[in-house]
Amino acid sequence: MKEKQKMKKNNLNIHVFHDQEAASAYVANKIYDLIQKNPQAVLGLATGSTPELTYQFLIEMLTESNLDLSKILTFNLDEYVGLETTHAQSYHTFMSENLFKFLPTLKSNNNNFPSAEVDYDKKISDAGGIDLQILGIGTNGHIGFNEPGSTSDSKTRIVNLDPSTIAANSRFFNSIDEVPTKAISMGLDTIFKAKKIILMAFGETKKSAIKKLMQAEKFDQDFPASILLSHPNVEIIVDEESYK
Ligand code: F6R
Repeated sequence: MKEKQKMKKNNLNIHVFHDQEAASAYVANKIYDLIQKNPQAVLGLATGSTPELTYQFLIEMLTESNLDLSKILTFNLDEYVGLETTHAQSYHTFMSENLFKFLPTLKSNNNNFPSAEVDYDKKISDAGGIDLQILGIGTNGHIGFNEPGSTSDSKTRIVNLDPSTIAANSRFFNSIDEVPTKAISMGLDTIFKAKKIILMAFGETKKSAIKKLMQAEKFDQDFPASILLSHPNVEIIVDEESYK
């Protein structure tokens, strides 16, 4: 794998790859290794453009291997509020189209999404906690939909999306007016409880967020991803474009 540079800052293990493809292959391998070692692994999953290629590689690896996924549990980070789960842009649909439908032994009952009806944090802890949480990052430093202002003790809850997030997500809708303004998201505390976290960021648009993360010294509510600085097991996976 074309890994260019590896370094450590605070607790963050940073891996810079030449491109998104090499980085995504690295992350797909990490998820695959975990599933191979632990057929009952609990995965925390993200949507968005960032993990798409990772999911493609993972599908290829899992399909070739024929591993039994029937005891794997997944917990997605977030979902829009106000969209039917069957809507083309819902995160239920995203996961189905980009991962779940290609993995026949994965049980749909074992794929969880936050909703106002369930105590998601309790459901996660009852499942033994998340073994590996996959994250992207917003240009404003959000993880999940923990927008600036989120507190370090925040749990799964309904949040108002930041205008910058609504603008960024409008690329998937016909017009900005169609983008939901609310979502339900794991909190920063929910994410922090994961045993291992991998955050990915690719492309020029993520450069300033990654720079801020590298410069942060401690948790700052205005930059939610800074919660990761004190987590004991974090990898930050970037391409050259986001880390020049
Ligand atoms: C998605 C999520 C968000 C995204 C972030 C980056 O489930 O929780 O935090 O990871 O908005 O989105 P992309 O990957 O589309 O740039």
